[in-house]
Amino acid sequence: MSDEGARRKLLGVEDAAERLVSPDDTLEDEVYGASLRPRTFDDYVGQERVVENLRIAIDAASRRGETLDHLLFYGPPGLGKTTLAGLISREMGANFRPTSGPTLEKPKDLVGILTSLEAGDVLFIDEIHRLGRVVEEFLYPAMEDFQIDFVVDRGAYAKTIKLPLKRFTLIGATTRAGMLTAPLRERFGIVHHLDYYAPEELERIVMRSASVLNVPIERPGAATIAARSRGTPRIANRLLRRVRDFAEVRAGGKITAEVASEALEREGVDLAGLDRLDRAFLRTIVEQYGGGPAGIAAIAATLTEDAETLEDVVEPYLLKAGFVVRTASGRKATPGAYRHLGLLPKGSGQERLF
Ligand SMILES: Nc1ncnc2c1ncn2[C@@H]1O[C@H](COP(=O)(O)OP(=O)(O)OP(=O)(O)O)[C@@H](O)[C@H]1O
Ligand SMILES: [Mg+2]
Repeated sequence: MSDEGARRKLLGVEDAAERLVSPDDTLEDEVYGASLRPRTFDDYVGQERVVENLRIAIDAASRRGETLDHLLFYGPPGLGKTTLAGLISREMGANFRPTSGPTLEKPKDLVGILTSLEAGDVLFIDEIHRLGRVVEEFLYPAMEDFQIDFVVDRGAYAKTIKLPLKRFTLIGATTRAGMLTAPLRERFGIVHHLDYYAPEELERIVMRSASVLNVPIERPGAATIAARSRGTPRIANRLLRRVRDFAEVRAGGKITAEVASEALEREGVDLAGLDRLDRAFLRTIVEQYGGGPAGIAAIAATLTEDAETLEDVVEPYLLKAGFVVRTASGRKATPGAYRHLGLLPKGSGQERLF
């Protein structure tokens, strides 16, 4: 086995972005995602304030026989932005027309879609922060006045032709609200931030998904999965599928707390939802750099991992969960990280807890 292969085996990861605890959409998620997606607002767990506001906006627009204002959802991956967009279009009785920023490369891609929209349609643009500048500028008059402006001919003969569009609702979704330009952001009438879910909410999501998948599960089994899901429904559903496999093959099919714990331990996912790569990251700071501060490049070199990958896929959750803090001089492990690893902070006399 190559050094690289040995390292991968040690960390238990093929690719940092394809970890069991990655919040990003995988092919497997896509396949199951369709069946596990809530079909009504009543099935959509949590985010109460957002849902309540949406229900009011939908109700008001319907009563007036108008289309809904353009909406923007932002927040970390896997928290239900796409799901909400689909629910809204269903609730409005409208067609759902999904597309995404990176696929709309040229203005003509966008113009083609816009001119084919029927009145009331919901145009969903995922990763809207990745729209090209020129494409984005076509969107402004489309959103504001429901028309697009074409410039034909050049020089002295140049003239602008206005092409009217049907009234539609644009729903944008992004994990990077900070990357949206101000003019685009200002054109959304309704903006909502989605936040991480509480363990009880994830437990309800796991119970619901288990019933959709027809898997026998006990509440404490769902709670065990929920606690390790990093506040993210997509991860909860993915862990559930893995636990289900284990339960079917090794434990007679039923998901109890013990079965869930054993299955997730085998996958290297611990009580806090950290996997081997997360723990290797923490251990590096603690053991190689005396708890920090350590620069991300140095940590990356020790783990022979890409610094950017660590920043994108490992660090956000460790920061959020309070295991790591960022300082001007680098990353530091918190007392919580030491406790989690079963260690005592440096200088406490006794370095190992057990
Ligand atoms: N509130 C919820 N209640 C129940 N299930 C949910 C909820 N939110 C998300 N899910 C589940 O999590 C999965 C991921 O949600 P979704 O694809 O909507 O996330 P997203 O925010 O669009 O992520 P991304 O930023 O990666 O596009 C869905 O397939 C759905 O089953
Ligand atoms: Mg999405």
